[in-house]
Amino acid sequence: METKIFKPTEVDQAARMLRRGELVSFPTETVYGLGAIVTDRAAVKDVYLAKGRPSDNPLIVHVASPQMVWQYAKPNTRAQKLMKHFWPGSLTLILPLQAGKLLPEVTGGLTTAAFRMPHNQTTLNLIKATGIPLVGPSANTSGKPSPTTAAHVYHDLHGKISGVMDDGPTQVGLESTVLDLSVDPAAILRPGAVTAAALKPYLGTIDTATHHVSAQEVPKAPGMKYKHYAPKAQVLIVPPEKNFLKAVQENLPTQKEVGVLAFERQLVTLPKQIEGKDVVSFSLGADLHSAAHKLFAGLRYFDLRPDIKVIIAAGVRAEDLGIAFMNRLQKAAGNQFVQ
Ligand code: TXA
Ligand code: MG
Repeated sequence: METKIFKPTEVDQAARMLRRGELVSFPTETVYGLGAIVTDRAAVKDVYLAKGRPSDNPLIVHVASPQMVWQYAKPNTRAQKLMKHFWPGSLTLILPLQAGKLLPEVTGGLTTAAFRMPHNQTTLNLIKATGIPLVGPSANTSGKPSPTTAAHVYHDLHGKISGVMDDGPTQVGLESTVLDLSVDPAAILRPGAVTAAALKPYLGTIDTATHHVSAQEVPKAPGMKYKHYAPKAQVLIVPPEKNFLKAVQENLPTQKEVGVLAFERQLVTLPKQIEGKDVVSFSLGADLHSAAHKLFAGLRYFDLRPDIKVIIAAGVRAEDLGIAFMNRLQKAAGNQFVQ
């Protein structure tokens, strides 16, 4: 099938495709999503097929207003308060459902579902035009880094989906915070740009331990048990307190090239060659926001360079947005740090 690239002005065409049961990728402020109408069983099944996603991993329901949520979820005052302060935005809420209101293909058979109102006007227009919420997992092949540009989506899914709505690169670059409100205290299942510190004034206690899942436990968010963001190369993380140049020198691969994913201030300390190895670098920019924005693009850049077998990547302090950044980088690295 041909995969059409839509401009933000072509929302009506994209909405028609979705209503016919076709798949269209949509932009959000976090990463691009893979859209299908939430009530269309065949289309939802096609989402899993296109991504190669395990069928027990439930999908986020993307809405254009808080009101859309209450057609499916049970009334919830904690959620109402959070929606008022954080929506549209990078906060996904897990809520208990009214029985039988959503397809088991959407919920993975759970009695809860994930809801989010993305901060992207084109996609809010698209959902309003279909009149029905859209499921939206990240629009990548399962296991690959999430897509932060329409080109990333096209690379992974062209020929498998009908369209991609191109609204430029996403701003945040890391997937939304997933907050479970079906439990008390509320629990962060996946850290994102909306931090525990930001949520605290509205919730009191928050359980933040749940996203550190050991191999033996069953993860609370089903998606967390699968391999994620895995580039072809091995990723080694340099802790923020280490000298970056020294860390690269001490961890050179046997191949002729070494991949480096680091901040501008670290890259300027590196020569073009170290002990005869070519340094192939991708810049994370100047600060943490830029690093979050560029992390997945960086991992994808090295995937297009099969000669690079080792990527040495800059770690950051696990605070604020750094918690989400390190969560994704540690998954990409299989939790490996430099010696
Ligand atoms: O930023 C985002 O959240 C992006 C954009 C497109 O909105 N979407 C996204 O979707 O990252 P996905 O499917 O890649 O990740 C959703 C996560 C998965 O880890 C899934 O297991 C979890 O949310 N999840 C969904 N429904 C759940 C539920 N009822 N209970 C617990 N976890 C749930
Ligand atoms: Mg995903």
